[in-house]
Formats: sequence, structure tokens, C-alpha cells
Amino acid sequence: MELELEMPMEGGGEQGRWEEERLKTASLSFGAKKEREKGLKAEREKYQLILEEDEIINFVSSAVIMKGTQDETVALSQAEVQKQSIQEVRRSLPVFPYREDLLLAIQQHQILVIEGETGSGKTTQIPQFLMESGYNDGGMKIGCTQPRRVAAMSVAARVAQEVGVKLGNEVGYSIRFEDCTSERTVLKYMTDGIGLCLKVVVVIIDEAHERTLHTDILFGLIKDIARFRPDLKVLVASATLDTERFSCFFDDAPVFRIPGRRFPVDIFYTKAPEADYLEACVVSVLQIHVTQPPGDCLVFLTGQEEIETCCELLQERCRRLGSKISELLVLPIYANLPSDMQAKIFSPTPPGSRKVVVATNIAETSLTIDGIIYVIDPGFCKQKSYNARTGMESLIVTPCSRASANQRAGRAGRVAAGKCFRLYTAWAFKHEMEESTVPEIQRTNLGNVVLLLKSLGINDLIHFDFMDPPPHETLVLALEQLMAELPVDPMLSKMILASEQYKCSEEVLTIAAMLSVNNSIFYRPKDKVVHADNARQNFVVPGGDHMVLLNVYTQWLESGYSTQWCYENFIQFRSMKRARDVREQLEGLMDRIEVEVCSSGGDIVPIRKAVTAGYFYHTARLSKGGYKTVKHQQTVYVHPNSSLFEEQPRWLIYHELVFTTKEFMRQVIEIDSSWLLEVAPHYYKNKELEDSSSKKMPRKQGKAKEELG
Ligand code: CDP
Ligand code: MG
Repeated sequence: MELELEMPMEGGGEQGRWEEERLKTASLSFGAKKEREKGLKAEREKYQLILEEDEIINFVSSAVIMKGTQDETVALSQAEVQKQSIQEVRRSLPVFPYREDLLLAIQQHQILVIEGETGSGKTTQIPQFLMESGYNDGGMKIGCTQPRRVAAMSVAARVAQEVGVKLGNEVGYSIRFEDCTSERTVLKYMTDGIGLCLKVVVVIIDEAHERTLHTDILFGLIKDIARFRPDLKVLVASATLDTERFSCFFDDAPVFRIPGRRFPVDIFYTKAPEADYLEACVVSVLQIHVTQPPGDCLVFLTGQEEIETCCELLQERCRRLGSKISELLVLPIYANLPSDMQAKIFSPTPPGSRKVVVATNIAETSLTIDGIIYVIDPGFCKQKSYNARTGMESLIVTPCSRASANQRAGRAGRVAAGKCFRLYTAWAFKHEMEESTVPEIQRTNLGNVVLLLKSLGINDLIHFDFMDPPPHETLVLALEQLMAELPVDPMLSKMILASEQYKCSEEVLTIAAMLSVNNSIFYRPKDKVVHADNARQNFVVPGGDHMVLLNVYTQWLESGYSTQWCYENFIQFRSMKRARDVREQLEGLMDRIEVEVCSSGGDIVPIRKAVTAGYFYHTARLSKGGYKTVKHQQTVYVHPNSSLFEEQPRWLIYHELVFTTKEFMRQVIEIDSSWLLEVAPHYYKNKELEDSSSKKMPRKQGKAKEELG
């Protein structure tokens, strides 16, 4: 017993360690089933026996792997496979026979969902088909979005090689902090943003099944953009998971299915749970290495640290075993691994040795490593989760979903019949794992999403077309958090943010600044009351007090922020100076949250709509003897200083309520009740507004208003 091939859990002779099951999704079967099963059983018994006796068998390195197509199975030596030219490899991919059909479907439909087994050639081949058939003629570009940086880089490198160009020239990639593209770039693999300029003629949303945050947002954006750009082609590429959902979301876009080429995979479960899955992985790899026929091995772990530990343990034990075992190449792969190290996982395994790739779930669908026959799956992954109440975001190791587990198992059946060793029980698979992974958008802090969408000009987040809308609470919290970035109250912030949508932020920023100093703008010395009131009257413009404040500021600005001008117009210079400071600050913030500042060019409707968007809660309706607040039916009055004191419009929004002799509304603006439905449909119901205006509105005053207006 000099070799440390100890079992993490001793199953005992009769019980053994594994339970076996055939992967249900295996689509092709080879040979007589009975025969196969008999063989498997024998193999398994041998396997267990060997484990129990810690016996080592050194396999002769006659590396033979099976290379199969749909109707034939050819045995090729590994060396021969390696020698296949790139073009031959391209032709051998499952997508190849469907090239023409696929191009036709793309030509006929604006949005197409493409479903195909991992490794069928979606990512590397489809963009090449498009280039070969001239989609990029006339300087047009093809973009392919990737959820993972590693995938974007390695796939771009591979495609550049296939096309025969230098990476970064015609074929490039762009990931955060790294742009490997040039003027000449026609095909770009990217993780960041979408850069959907008019030059992009086809956009491929790849790995759609991963349902990452960016992908999900992209769905909503692209769906919208596609409506305005009939020339834009949208391809949604996904592994064989849930493609009906995508089709459904994109208004029943057709699904193009690339028939898979998959060999049967036998699944083995442990009979009892593993206490230490890392150790269990190490042992399983060595067990496979010494007992199983040639073929590479893929281990799924949750992150860099685990992967490094596992690799060290494996190397250490191999060293101790020395020449008793054949060479085992241990290769890690995770997102932060330097790219030269990453490339190693793709290099062919030298004859006589076995490669073991220790990966995060990046190898689940994003990367295809040829030659994998054995998969070891501890059943865990690292997942982001977010608690909207506490605002805490955490990355925790959790059991992966059944869908993930099946994807992982599928990696073993790409080049030949394979085996997947699950380090958990069949019971756990059926009862403890979720059916599928919850989309990231439902378990994340949406703060950045909100900013991202805002920077893209999407303002109405509540009604954004999400495939699976994030929890309402999380979204509202994110909006509030964003508002917290603005050192003004939430309603004022909302008004400012809304001004971007209504293209009047220039004016609204001024109004916000003026409102923040609003009670001390007009100077009314006791000895010059008449003059002061006349001066104030001169500033009155239609719309309401907010518009008056805007007018004051604009005139002051035109005077060159003059002190003299203030003095002559009974305006407090100090307050104006402060308003100017506030405005500058706000403008700086707008820049920071990437909200574009522009002017409505004299149109006062958008300005009043933006005010309504922020202060919809402060709505009052004209009623007998005064106004009634819409939500609480509280009686309130227009302040005598207001520019609307005499006009008494039917609907108005007030900035604040002050109680002096009566409940007065200070700083009021006239609105149209229909705007309330536009800016706050979640708050106001059509009926509520119609009913109150037609039924409760006294006829006389309604008329009076119309005459005045
Ligand atoms: O996207 P999909 O999973 O359908 O397949 P793909 O990524 O286009 O991969 C097709 C084939 O390209 C794989 O089977 C690999 O043989 C090869 N490939 C490679 O050798 N190196 C890469 N970095 C990516 C793909
Ligand atoms: Mg792919």
C-alpha cells in the first residue's frame, strides 16, 4: 500500500463506490446495447477491484481515439487527428453540412435562434460563413458577443488562425481593458458593451443559454434595436438548452437546430456523499489515469484557488508515483489565467500520456477541448447572489443545476463514448439540485445594470423588456441607489434623470438648482414692496413657478451673472450664486453617470413632463373651494405668491406643502393628467384620473379654467 490512492469514502467490497446511469440525452448509440452494458459492468467491476487493491496498471500508449460522424465510426490514431488540416477539421464539424441551409435561413429571417451542441462550430464557424458569403462587403462588420473573456480571446485566436490572418487584423476581440482590433477588423468577438454602430450588419449573441446579466440586457436592447434596423441580422446562439424561451422572447423567431454529434456517456454517481470533494477529485483522476483506457480528463471545480490546489495535489502525487504511472499532464483553466497558459489546454496530448484539464464551469459550454473522454463533476459552482434587503452581494459555492451537470457530462461524449463521474449521489442529483440555473439578472445588484442602461439611453427601466424581469424590489432599490449618487432628494433626482429622456436636462438642472434655494430668490424689502412685486411679475411666463424660476436664471445668465442685474430686478445675488454652484455640481454628476445634457429649445411640455416624472406623488386636482391631493384627498391651496394663483389650472404639481394660515402649495406647475399615466403608470390608474376629473370636477370651475386657459 505504498500508493496513496485512498478512497475518500470506503464503500466496501460489495457496495462499491459508484452507481451507474446512462446519460439520457445521449442521442446516438453504438453497438449492441446488451453487449455494451455487459462490457461496462465488467469494466466497472475491474475498476472497483483495482481501487480496492490499489493496483496500478500501466497502459501501453497505443493512443486510439474514436472519431465518429453521424453514420460511421472511424478509428484514427491521435497523431492522424492532429495532422488533419484546419480545413478538414472545419469540414468535420457538425455545423458544416448545414452551411447553405443556415445562410438561407439567415437571409430569410431577421432574428434567428441557432441551437447546437457545444463544439458543433457555432462560435467559430458561423461568423466565417457570414464573411465568406459577403455579409461584410462595403465595410460592414460582424459582432459576436461572449459572456466570458477567456472564450472571446481563445475563440478569436482560433478563428484568426482558421481564416489565416493575424489576430487583431481582420479578426479581433475586445474585452474589458483590452482591445485587440484595428481599422481592418471585420469580425469582432467581444464581452464588453455592444458598440452597435450602423456598421454592424450581423450581431451574434453567443452562449445565450448562460443567461448572464449582459446577455439578458442585450436581449432587451437588441429586440428594440432590431425593430428600427430591419437591415440588422440577429443570431442568438445557444447550447441545447431552453431555446424555445429565446424564440418566444424574440416574437417566435425560428430555431435552427444543428443536429448534434454526441456519443453515449455513462454516468457514475457516488453511493454516498463525499466529505471533501477536492480530495475526491484528486483520487478520481488518479483512479481514471491508472485504470481507464486512454482519453483526456476534465475536472470541474469552482474557482482559481481550488483549481490550483487540485493541480498541486495531482502533481505531487504523480511525482510520488513516479514511473509507476504514465505521464499525466495537469493543466488548469480559469478566467484569470495568463493567456499563454490558457492556450496549453488546446495543445494535443502527446502519445502515451494523458491530459487532465482542471477547469471552472468555463469548460461547460464556452470552450471545447478535444479529446475529453472522462469528466469528473463534484457538482458545485460559484454563484453570485444578492440580498436586496441588506444590499449584500456575495459569491458563494453552491450546488450546480441539473442542466449544468448534464452539460458537464456531455463534454465526455464529444469524440467517443465517454464516462462522467459525479461526486454526489443519484438522490442528490434528483432531489437537491435545481432544474436549471437562475438567470444572473435575478440574483445580482442591479446598480450597474441601471447605470449601464441609463448610459445607453434607456430610462424606463420598470418597463424594459427583460426576458426574465429582475425582482421589482431589486430594481427599485437599484434606482434609489443611483439616486443616492445625486445629493438631492429622490424626487428631484428622478426629475433630473427623467429630463434626459425628455431631452431637456439643460433646463431641468437649472430648475432643480433654483428649487434647492427657492425661498430666497425674490427680494421684497418692506419699503419697496410695490417695485419688488412688479419686478417679480415681469418674470412670469406660462406653465407655472418652475418656469418662472428658469426664466430668472436664464436672464441672469444672459446678464453675465451680473450683480447689478440682480439688484435692479429685486433678485437675491447670494441665492443666485448658490443656485449656480448647485447647478454646476449637478452638471458634473450628470457627466459622471453619463446622462447627456441637452436643451428642449424653448418647448415647455418636456420640461413639465420631467417635473411630473419626479413629483408625480405631489399631484393636486382642482375641486370645490381649492385643490385636493390626488392620493390622499387632502385639501390644499395655491400660495398667493405663485404665478398660478389666479389662473387655478385643473391639474398641478406642487414642489412642497407649507402650513402657514392654510395648507399652501409652494412652487406649482401646471400639468396634463395624461402625463401621470405616462410617467408613473405603476402609480396611477387611468380610471382613477378619468373618474376624478369627469365625475368629481365641478362643472363651473372646469369651465372657468377653460375660459382662463
Ligand atoms: O460554439 P460551439 O460550441 O458550437 O463550437 P466552437 O466553439 O465553434 O468549436 C468548434 C470546434 O473548434 C471545436 O470542436 C474545436 O475543435 C475547435 N476549437 C479549437 O480548436 N480552439 C478553440 N479555441 C475553439 C474551438
Ligand atoms: Mg460556442
